[in-house]
Amino acid sequence: MKKSILFVCLGNICRSPAAEAVFFNLLKKQNIDSLYRVDSAGTGGWHVGRLADSRMREAAAKRGVLVTSKARQISLKDFNDFDLILTMDNSNLADVKSLSNEINAPYKAKIIPLLSYSSHTKLIEVPDPYYGGEKGFEDVLDLVEDAAKGLLLDLQSNN
Ligand code: 4NP
Repeated sequence: MKKSILFVCLGNICRSPAAEAVFFNLLKKQNIDSLYRVDSAGTGGWHVGRLADSRMREAAAKRGVLVTSKARQISLKDFNDFDLILTMDNSNLADVKSLSNEINAPYKAKIIPLLSYSSHTKLIEVPDPYYGGEKGFEDVLDLVEDAAKGLLLDLQSNN
């Protein structure tokens, strides 16, 4: 069975599509992408159907990472479709947990902040880069690259 991972932020146009693409890139490099299913979603629905923010796509492309996903909103089905739901900040975490309360039965997914897998930062949230400058997008990529490595090591050691 493929391990399935859903990255979640607010708009699904900056942080979570970057995390999805960075993690997928890591899997590709190790030729293990067929063992995992990765996706991303937003808690909000404002940008549904759109490509990721061009600033995020450009910053990622400079690091050799292609961000190709189109935004979608998280749904109740995701709680049983995915093994892991990884949130970017405390607000996403609270929103995802609150949404999970609408399910009246046990569900499959574990809900965990992405940065709990980091080893090079004490931050617990990936800051929202949407209203800031270019550096914010680089910071997001630095944080998700570190966490993606930790996540993969964790998945490989627990299977
Ligand atoms: P994201 O960033 O949650 O990392 O995709 C944002 C994108 C859009 C908005 C907020 C955050 N917005 O308010 O439209």
